[in-house]
Amino acid sequence: MRQINPKADPLAHLPHIHPARIPRHIAFIMDGNGRWAEERGFPRIFGHRNGASAVRSTVEQCGRLGVECVTLYSFSNENWKRPQGEIDALMAMAVMYCDGEREAFIRENIRVRFIGSRKELPTEVVQAMENVEAATASCTGPMLCLALNYGSRQEIANAARTLAEKVRKGELSPDKIDEHTLTDALYTRGIPDPDLVVRTAGEFRVSNFLLWQLSYAELYVTPCYWPDFDHAALHKAIIDYASRDRRFGGVQKSSEHSA
Ligand code: IPE
Ligand code: IPE
Ligand code: MG
Repeated sequence: MRQINPKADPLAHLPHIHPARIPRHIAFIMDGNGRWAEERGFPRIFGHRNGASAVRSTVEQCGRLGVECVTLYSFSNENWKRPQGEIDALMAMAVMYCDGEREAFIRENIRVRFIGSRKELPTEVVQAMENVEAATASCTGPMLCLALNYGSRQEIANAARTLAEKVRKGELSPDKIDEHTLTDALYTRGIPDPDLVVRTAGEFRVSNFLLWQLSYAELYVTPCYWPDFDHAALHKAIIDYASRDRRFGGVQKSSEHSA
């Protein structure tokens, strides 16, 4: 039976949604920052800056609604293809976000974890990531998982390599490899799979995000650009999720006796 976060106050925000219908884990593909800025005649980086306030308000509101884990797709393996100026600005924002929010995370009891490859990231970014992870390691409230330099194919390939290495050393027998072994070799080890994926800015694709972990996630796409994603937009996504019938390959509960 699912534990309801005692500090959460869903009734104050979504009175008609039963707390058990609130997703435990929401993963966001925060898209549309560039278009938001371009439509206003601003440089793309302005969109990223405004996107940062949507991050703050979404994380805070998810916590109040009792969502136990929020994953944010912040920078993909493929985003290195962008102009260097935009990449530099995004890296500087990552440092600012980690340093600037650290105290707030501790106050809110939020545990921060990063997924993705660290070796291509600038040293000061890795340092800021490690600082915030260490500072919040003993927090027991909601988890914030930041996908930075993340790519799902790379994650799965790494996991395969880790398992192969264990087999080579004689620590693992090939016939013991199953979906649990592989799940435990991913960056997301120990994090429950997302229940809901929200993609802003209208594209119907997953862009190399959590391909393994999304197997049974509910998908929600909104045309709203990420900087405009506010509490009302989040509530709409959760209300839509709450109406879904998740069957996981089985049959609808009400059909069980009519078979
Ligand atoms: C998402 O917004 C943020 C990142 C990928 C870092 P985009 O920058 O992709 O915005 P669009 O898709 O160009 O509008
Ligand atoms: C997905 O957005 C990556 C992040 C949100 C970090 P993109 O803008 O990079 O995805 P595509 O290029 O539209 O597929
Ligand atoms: Mg985009």
